[in-house]
Amino acid sequence: MRRETEMSSVLMGLLCLVPALAQSQVDINAATMQNIYSNLDARISPCNNFWAYACGNWSFNYVDNFALAEETYANEMLRVLRDNRLIQRGTAPRLYNNMFDYFTACAKNQTEELQLPHELTFYYFEWIRAMARLRKYGLNGVFFEETADVAYNDSLRFVVQLKMPAAQSNYMPILLFKPEIQQLERDLRALYEKYRRNEPLLQSWTLGRLKQEIPQIDWQIYFRELLEVEPSDTELRVEVSDVEYLRALGELLRRCNKTSLELYLRVQFANFAREVNPSSGHAPRVHSCIHHMRALLPLGMNYIYDRYIYRTRSQDTGQLQTIFDSLRGMFGKYLDWNRLQLSPQQIQYLHAKLAVMQLKLGNLPDATTTEDFFDSHYASARFSRSEFQQNLWQALRLRTRLQHAPLLQPGATLQLNHYYVNDDLFRARNAPYFEHERNTLTVPLIFLQWPFYDHRQHSIFQHSLMGFILAHELSHAFEQDGILFDFAGNESPLGMHIRQNSKFENALQCVLQTPTKSLRERLADLNGLQLAYDTFFGMGHDSQRFEYQPYAFEKEFPAPQLFHLNFAQFFCGRLPPAIGHDMDDVRVNEAEKNLHQFSIDFRCRHQSPLSSCEMWRPASI
Ligand SMILES: *[C@@H]1O[C@H](CO)[C@@H](O)[C@H](O)[C@H]1NC(C)=O
Ligand SMILES: *[C@@H]1O[C@H](CO)[C@@H](O)[C@H](O)[C@H]1NC(C)=O
Ligand SMILES: *[C@@H]1O[C@H](CO)[C@@H](O)[C@H](O)[C@H]1NC(C)=O
Ligand SMILES: *[C@@H]1O[C@H](CO)[C@@H](O)[C@H](O)[C@H]1NC(C)=O
Ligand SMILES: [Zn+2]
Repeated sequence: MRRETEMSSVLMGLLCLVPALAQSQVDINAATMQNIYSNLDARISPCNNFWAYACGNWSFNYVDNFALAEETYANEMLRVLRDNRLIQRGTAPRLYNNMFDYFTACAKNQTEELQLPHELTFYYFEWIRAMARLRKYGLNGVFFEETADVAYNDSLRFVVQLKMPAAQSNYMPILLFKPEIQQLERDLRALYEKYRRNEPLLQSWTLGRLKQEIPQIDWQIYFRELLEVEPSDTELRVEVSDVEYLRALGELLRRCNKTSLELYLRVQFANFAREVNPSSGHAPRVHSCIHHMRALLPLGMNYIYDRYIYRTRSQDTGQLQTIFDSLRGMFGKYLDWNRLQLSPQQIQYLHAKLAVMQLKLGNLPDATTTEDFFDSHYASARFSRSEFQQNLWQALRLRTRLQHAPLLQPGATLQLNHYYVNDDLFRARNAPYFEHERNTLTVPLIFLQWPFYDHRQHSIFQHSLMGFILAHELSHAFEQDGILFDFAGNESPLGMHIRQNSKFENALQCVLQTPTKSLRERLADLNGLQLAYDTFFGMGHDSQRFEYQPYAFEKEFPAPQLFHLNFAQFFCGRLPPAIGHDMDDVRVNEAEKNLHQFSIDFRCRHQSPLSSCEMWRPASI
């Protein structure tokens, strides 16, 4: 779902407002309605600007609901991580001990400016060796990106992926760089511009082949330093995009002044250290520590939250699975209707993908996992209770080592029931996400809280917010990128054929009539809202033909209006700048504009059914 926000600076004083709900006797539906009413700006017409109508009166001391969820989460975790009795009493004592030590040092040993780890002082500077060392500490995407991941055509097999750094939408002005490195930065940008392709060709090679194909870079040194063993030419497999770029990069850096190059890497690492250091930001130190640990030590944090705080796993699992299954059922009907007129084989491909799609609550290994697995996950860590900076460097190195460890076991395949993480996040995910390689939708535990979701809520609230979120994620499996992956998470020519289908392309063009920062996200919003709506009200539902009895907890809004209003609650807030997708008001308004029934539900004078872009949903009858 990709929607992250910054913690608000001023929110701490007033947090008693809502989190107390968990223990209180307040009726959860009444509380949800109260929220909806307090966000509502009745002066605005829902037909003109639905977001402004549903969210215009947002007056919480939080940026948005995510800030509220982060706060509640942090307060709960603080209770547990400050309780050192759990070291003896708890399960997985070693894991708990590690987390306790890390937290304790983080909370009390704040470091404004991090010192470079000793290992990063170079007596003889070689850029490729330096890069590998910095990578061990988590720095990625300087010169090129390196990731331990799974193969494009075999989602159980580990490979190293190499590609050029991701496109930066807003580069820092060159003049802000130190004079000695301005030229290098200019040269790099020229390379990016020259070699960036929309769909770069992917090469699947062994290390030996990589060395032949791109001799401008000493890959043997790079991988020996990174993996801390001599890498095998035949067993280490790599997937390389942007081959021409990497060759040109090797040439450029070989010619480059070593002093400038070293300075350049130092500056990059200093920026990285600032970003990863939890002291940056406005939230209280202890809260920053919690969210920092959630990003850096996710298994430990998830385990502790699940074990000591999360109390409604069984109810939530059952309910979410039911909602998810009903969404899949409706999407299956869409497929049978076959709006895009795909071939039977193509429809079968999509059905197969839908059928085995998984839903996971929290990124944790499956229930059969022993305490021992958890206890040994961070076993090599020796965190101190007083020196935060040492811990931070250790944790970063540990993460890189865990990500790369499977590459050292030739023939090892991914264990789907085990925990794995291959991202380099500094801020943990709050919102649900879909992983194409695993055909799996994960809901982070932090998201399983009111006001996003509560198992006691009426199903109209659950379907309109969590249902929409799950439908949005499910839709990612069928957008222009997701569709390339088959049921097992392997890229498939069948998926490519569907994407090249002219009806599929027309549906994308329709959506692009209104410009968007991310076509993928736009598609997931539009298709997700349509799917969630149909799943709750039934396909072909028409508000004009039915009288709706208001619910016991709500006298004013008929059911369809309530559905739209609660959907919008997910997006209510102070409109923080969006990263990677459109602003929240645009997202809400675009999704509703494309839902045929919306204007009927709100009795808008101007109905715009013909402008709506529908991709999978049967054409309105
Ligand atoms: C906004 O909310 C306040 C209460 O927080 C309420 O008094 C006011 O009437 C609301 N404004 C509108 C326009 O709905
Ligand atoms: C805490 O961190 C500082 C660096 O900011 C360091 O000088 C100090 O020795 C550390 N340890 C303790 C126990 O305060
Ligand atoms: C490299 O650059 C530094 C300053 O950026 C300069 O002092 C040095 O002479 C340069 N070295 C070479 C070999 O050009
Ligand atoms: C995946 O691609 C590589 C390289 O193109 C090839 O050697 C391998 O056999 C393929 N694996 C599968 C399972 O198709
Ligand atoms: Zn999304």
